[in-house]
Amino acid sequence: MPKKVLGMLGSPRLDGCAAQLLDSALEGARSAGAEAERFDLATMNIGPCRECRACDTAGACTRHGDDMAVIYSRIREVDAIVLSSPIFFMGVTAQTKAMIDRCQCFWVEKYVKGRRVYDGREKPKGLFVACAGSPKPTIFEPSLHVVKAFFAAIDYQYSGEVLLGHTDDPGLPPRKDAALKQAYEAGRRLV
Ligand SMILES: Cc1cc2nc3c(=O)[nH]c(=O)nc-3n(C[C@H](O)[C@H](O)[C@H](O)COP(=O)(O)O)c2cc1C
Repeated sequence: MPKKVLGMLGSPRLDGCAAQLLDSALEGARSAGAEAERFDLATMNIGPCRECRACDTAGACTRHGDDMAVIYSRIREVDAIVLSSPIFFMGVTAQTKAMIDRCQCFWVEKYVKGRRVYDGREKPKGLFVACAGSPKPTIFEPSLHVVKAFFAAIDYQYSGEVLLGHTDDPGLPPRKDAALKQAYEAGRRLV
C-alpha cells in the first residue's frame, strides 16, 4: 500500500510561495512512492471554532456541515501532513488557524480522553513549510509554536520545517530555488 500524504495550503494565493513550497514537498513525497493530495484551505468552507465545548464530552466536533469533516477523516488515515502557510501578522494565516482551532477535538481525545489518535498504525509525521516577507531570523518563531502544538494535538510526530524568509527581496530566486529543493527532500524523507 503506498503511503498517503496530505498537503494543506493555508495561503489565499493558490500559486504563491507557500503553494510552491508545498507542491515541491508533495512532489518529493510522490517521488518516494507516496500518494499525495493538496487541500486549499482558502477554497474550503471551514468555520472557526465556536468554543461550544461539545468536544469536551463528545470527544469529537459536533459542528457538522462544513469541510472539516473531510479533514478530520484524512487526519486519521494519512501517513503524513505537510502544512503550508505564509506569515501574516507574525503568525499563520486565518485560513490555517481556523483549521487548527477546529482540531481542539483531537486535543481532547489525546489529552483528556487519553486515546492515541494514530492507534494501530505507525505514528504519522508532520512537516511545516512557510514563507514570510521579512528578513528577520525570528519571524517564524510564533508560527512554529502554533504548528508544533497542532501536530502534537493531532498526535503526529513533528518532523521539521522548511522556511523561506525575505520573499520581498529582489534577489529571492536563488534562495527560493534552494528552499524548493529543501522542501522536495523533506517531502521525500516523510515517506
Ligand atoms: C495580511 C498580510 C500580513 C502579512 N504579515 C507579515 C508579517 O507579519 N511578517 C512578514 O514577514 N510578512 C508578512 N506578510 C508578507 C507575506 O508573508 C509574504 O508576502 C509571503 O511570501 C506571501 O506568501 P504567498 O506567496 O504564499 O502568498 C504579510 C502579508 C499579508 C498579505
